[in-house]
Amino acid sequence: MKGAANLRTALLTTFALILCLYSTRGDYCEVNLCHNGGTCVTSVGEDPFICICADGFGGDTCNLTETGPCSPNPCKNDGLCEVIAPTRRGDVFSEYICKCQSGFEGVQCQINVNDCDQQPCKNGGVCRDLDGDYTCQCPSPYVGKQCQFRCTSLLGMEGGAIVESQISASSVHYGILGLQRWGPELARLNNQGIVNAWTSATNDRNPWIEVNMQKKMRLTGIITQGASRMGTAEYIKAFKVASSFDGQTYTTYREGGQRIDTVLVGNTDNDSTKTNLFDPPIVAQYIRIIPVVCRRACTLRMELVGCELNVYSNTAGCSEPLGMKSRLISDGQLSASSSYKTWGIDSFTWHPQFARLDKQGKTNAWSPANNNCSEWLQVDLEKTKRLTGIITQGAKDFGVVQFVSVFKVAYSNDGESWSMVMDEKTSNHKLFQGNTDNNTHKKNLFEPPFYAQYVRVIPWEWHERITLRMELLGCDD
Ligand SMILES: *[C@@H]1O[C@H](CO)[C@@H](O)[C@H](O)[C@H]1NC(C)=O
Ligand SMILES: *[C@@H]1O[C@H](CO)[C@@H](O)[C@H](O)[C@H]1NC(C)=O
Ligand SMILES: *[C@@H]1O[C@H](CO)[C@@H](O)[C@H](O)[C@H]1NC(C)=O
Ligand SMILES: *[C@@H]1O[C@H](CO)[C@@H](O)[C@H](O)[C@H]1NC(C)=O
Repeated sequence: MKGAANLRTALLTTFALILCLYSTRGDYCEVNLCHNGGTCVTSVGEDPFICICADGFGGDTCNLTETGPCSPNPCKNDGLCEVIAPTRRGDVFSEYICKCQSGFEGVQCQINVNDCDQQPCKNGGVCRDLDGDYTCQCPSPYVGKQCQFRCTSLLGMEGGAIVESQISASSVHYGILGLQRWGPELARLNNQGIVNAWTSATNDRNPWIEVNMQKKMRLTGIITQGASRMGTAEYIKAFKVASSFDGQTYTTYREGGQRIDTVLVGNTDNDSTKTNLFDPPIVAQYIRIIPVVCRRACTLRMELVGCELNVYSNTAGCSEPLGMKSRLISDGQLSASSSYKTWGIDSFTWHPQFARLDKQGKTNAWSPANNNCSEWLQVDLEKTKRLTGIITQGAKDFGVVQFVSVFKVAYSNDGESWSMVMDEKTSNHKLFQGNTDNNTHKKNLFEPPFYAQYVRVIPWEWHERITLRMELLGCDD
């Protein structure tokens, strides 16, 4: 590849010179970058220049040899080209058909079908069309790709599946000379008896009761109930809910799109139940009920409503594409340490937003300004997701095959402090084996999976230039 590299360096230098001399005129055809007698033309479409190739040649710079109607592949969006009659008629090949990937149609698979037309979202889910896919925004308590599942199991306060040791509180009220203990383990919906609920101590200014579900669960609602003590009704009139993954840091629940903590309306008497739904659902291991307004005392019986995680993800478990290719991950969620420009031309910038698996076009991947190990590509998933794998792919820069052959992965929950994915055997940073050509998908699994909002790919070894297209695999939980 040394020759090609030299050629490119020469081109680059010549081109930079020409650019400086002619930048006011912006004539990108001053140096003809088209091979094999191709004609260079400016001011056509969005590109600085295009090559009109001589008979028998194709590709962006006319250095691909046409060897049949399917080479180079005329089908867009990963369509498979099939020859129906390999004969040449006139001066163009037309005897092929494109077999399109799902979500695309047209003679050359150039049309992105609106995947929402079939109304795939059930139960009031709102559909959004993606490239070759769709996503449903489900109203609580519905979950699943198509909002087809109801996440409404009773988690076991009343039934007893949640045992005493899983329930704790900031304080406990002791009644009748300390003989009656209104402990948190009594806070079970429809609990009967004289002492049948949790009550916080009278002097507790910041009361709370907490359930440790022992693993991450999805909560879609809570049912609350007061109680009566010495013939008087006591209950929580208004409360907040906070949740935590680790029992250390807590997030107070906010309804979708709200910027302030949600105050939920509680009970109005000693016995009736009040149900509140969480929309969006809360995913957490610890759930804390924080009374805001109490009648006489903060007294509570309750039930949690929700379901296990992952059960509904999909048949293959937690390994859905998270949206690089489908564009569920938007351009604004992608960033990088820097971006390379072929021949220094702005229109040929290899933006991080181009790092989408199977992206087509002249500049169709991310490539950084420098080729060293300080460069990175970052995805902000906008909320914590479970990550189980990554697919990487190289690309071609005007005919030159480029790819990342070894890379590392880092992740973070705040975009500031980062953890490296480690190799369990060696206790060093895990080195993932990447690509070996310009197009093949290389899949690596994260074992074990991790939870994160931010993911960074750090190229470690590469061929020609660092060049990357990719997809992340995982699920919402
Ligand atoms: C508690 O609720 C029950 C059932 O609704 C009702 O009969 C009773 O009068 C209530 N007791 C108090 C003290 O409010
Ligand atoms: C990578 O290249 C940039 C620009 O040349 C330089 O500032 C940086 O220190 C380099 N990093 C390493 C690890 O060599
Ligand atoms: C196409 O041209 C580039 C130089 O721009 C060269 O590096 C590459 O090898 C050529 N490809 C083919 C298939 O000839
Ligand atoms: C690049 O990938 C395409 C599609 O897989 C393949 O047909 C082509 O041979 C590759 N080019 C080179 C130079 O490896």
